Amino acid sequence: MKKLLLFFVALIVYHSFSSAQNKQSQMPIYKNAKASIENRVKDLLSRMTIQEKAGQLNQLAGLIATGPAANDPGEKAKMTELREGKVGSFLNVIGAKETKAVQKIAVEESRLGIPVLFGFDVIHGFKTIFPIPLAEACSWDLHQAETNAAIAAKEAAAAGIHWTFAPMCDITNDPRWGRIMEGVGEDPYYGGLLSAARVKGFQGNLNDAEHILACVKHYAVYGAVEAGREYNEVDVSRVMLWNKYLPTYKAAVEAGAATVMNSFNVFEGVPTSANKYLVTDILKKKWGFKGFLVSDWNSFGEMITHGYATDKKDVAMKAINAGSMMDMQTEAMVKYIPELVKEGKVSMQTVDDAVGKILYYKFKLGLFDDPYKFCNEEREAKVTFTKANREEALKAAHSSIVLLKNANNTLPVSNNTKIALVGYYANSPEDLFDFWVGKGTSNDAVTLYDGFKNKFGNSLIAYTKGYNADGSTNDNLINEAVNATANADVVFVNVGLTGKLAGEDRSVANPVIADGEVQLLKALQKTGKPIVALVTAGRPLVLTQINNLVSSIVYCWILGTETGNAVADVVTGLYNPSGKTVVSFPYAVGQIPVYYNHFNTGRPTATDDAGNWFSRYRDIPNDPLYPFGFGLSYTTYQYSNLTLSSSSIKKTDKLQVNVTVANTGKVDGEEVVQLYIRDIAASIIRPVKELKAFKKIALKAGESKELNFILTGKDLSFYDADGNSKLEAGNFKIFVGGNSKDVLEKDFNVQ
Ligand code: GLC
Repeated sequence: MKKLLLFFVALIVYHSFSSAQNKQSQMPIYKNAKASIENRVKDLLSRMTIQEKAGQLNQLAGLIATGPAANDPGEKAKMTELREGKVGSFLNVIGAKETKAVQKIAVEESRLGIPVLFGFDVIHGFKTIFPIPLAEACSWDLHQAETNAAIAAKEAAAAGIHWTFAPMCDITNDPRWGRIMEGVGEDPYYGGLLSAARVKGFQGNLNDAEHILACVKHYAVYGAVEAGREYNEVDVSRVMLWNKYLPTYKAAVEAGAATVMNSFNVFEGVPTSANKYLVTDILKKKWGFKGFLVSDWNSFGEMITHGYATDKKDVAMKAINAGSMMDMQTEAMVKYIPELVKEGKVSMQTVDDAVGKILYYKFKLGLFDDPYKFCNEEREAKVTFTKANREEALKAAHSSIVLLKNANNTLPVSNNTKIALVGYYANSPEDLFDFWVGKGTSNDAVTLYDGFKNKFGNSLIAYTKGYNADGSTNDNLINEAVNATANADVVFVNVGLTGKLAGEDRSVANPVIADGEVQLLKALQKTGKPIVALVTAGRPLVLTQINNLVSSIVYCWILGTETGNAVADVVTGLYNPSGKTVVSFPYAVGQIPVYYNHFNTGRPTATDDAGNWFSRYRDIPNDPLYPFGFGLSYTTYQYSNLTLSSSSIKKTDKLQVNVTVANTGKVDGEEVVQLYIRDIAASIIRPVKELKAFKKIALKAGESKELNFILTGKDLSFYDADGNSKLEAGNFKIFVGGNSKDVLEKDFNVQ
């Protein structure tokens, strides 16, 4: 009996095992979680019609328009296209519940059940909003930047988002451009490190439901739009392309970014969406990029407007044959790829290569095995806008603030100093945030007024707005402000530009402090009280008109959810400011573009009264008001003993650079020690300074440290017009200091 029982058990086990085997063998490979991604992609491609393949190249917008949506087909039509396998991705569909509903249609109602990718602009936070990327860059804290991105990814992933259109890696020198807020500042070396950190923060290892695909944008050179005007054209040489603009995209790609976004502009007369030199020769062949590209919003369709393509069929052909892939909002690929393949104008190999890369990341994210992996409402509620996330946002905001001026050590003040706060924006949540704040709402953010109330309590003896939403003022507002400050020891005035003018399609011809705000400051200066300017803006404004009206200038940028608490902590010394600007502050609008890594010209002048025949303006100084890398602390630092391991090295040698930095003040602080080089003479001219290393160090009051930097041949190299890296013998300079102007220097040469 026992044997019989065992026999039957064995039979059942064998049967279930073999049926599982059979089932597995009958299951299409692409549905088999045990098969390699490569094999799953290959199998799926072999099952897809050309129309379904073209559908994977089609990305449509959901609820929010982040571009001109005149011909939007509407929700119903999009869902029909989804059922027909004609949509591979949506942007701006947000929420665990919302994305699940759309994913269900893709997976359960289309022929092959291919899941869609949900993309969204998670630029500096999802619900918990961090400082704008330009402000975050001023922290010089790569670990903090990575942490910020990781928190943003975790909140976004919990809301069903698989992919962010960030980091924006565009180098720019133009504060007129509204998108300067979104990038990395003016330096290619640091901008590259920052972009890589942001990619790592967003993506992690892409093996959980807390990280999302990153997107390197806007490829390429979009930050060079002429005159800082949005969507304007770009015209830069290949030498500038390789040495100034490409390094940040390259660093982000090398950090493993899954996707790259075409930019709106042209390069050498060809829109980047169809620019084979940029997309195939450089990105894919030279850099070995293995991910996929997505266009910017209708940037494929705009090739017609640029005057490069004749119609949408021409657009689809030129874009995909140049190496571009997914089509945001033009619907050219989904409509014309089948026809173009049939006519032999686009090869099936080209289509399979593009579609295969998109499918790869859908498998990599695990969406074929669990399409609803990111659609978890319970997790969404649990991980979003938490106390811990807001604490991290506060930390990030602290280190993003840049102290530009602090005459007579006006700051810090104590918590019970009697203060007055003036400024419309200080108490206006709707002016607090910029355009790119995802699902963040300024009503749940801490305004300057909130933060000062929290910090000073009754010592905040008065608040008046001083000017109107547009920066204008009048005698009543000024008199009200002056009277309200009568009993204050220190007056804090929030001036700047509303956050509504920070972001895309927000170029301004006059990035200055509004006349009304200047008038207000002039009236307050007459009271004789110390005035502290708290400047909020998504760009470096021209501060010349207020520089001598105030004792201190605290540049607050746009700091996100914890704005008011962070600024209050800084002005009371709870946090000793350590930020260093990553963009030069122009002395005048006419000086734009002004940047530290400029060329020498044939007639440079270091002074402003040099006589005739020099490269300068006659009506303003030659330098910016505040230079790249500049930022004050409540303590002081002294640099000494700059020494080099050798004054002459071979190309294969390393150069060791030592410097001593002392905290010569009375409070502990953090200093960003910067190392620049100059290649004195080369086969193409080189900038007067190039940042090549930095260290952010903590120094207690009275403490000093000897720092050691190692430079290699790579640090001393540059690119020629063909993108070849060159290290040439010749004389060099090393500069080390706390900003790009006040530096110690040493000479050395490369044999
Ligand atoms: C916008 C922006 C781009 C953004 C995309 C989707 O036009 O240029 O940065 O990611 O459209 O919103």
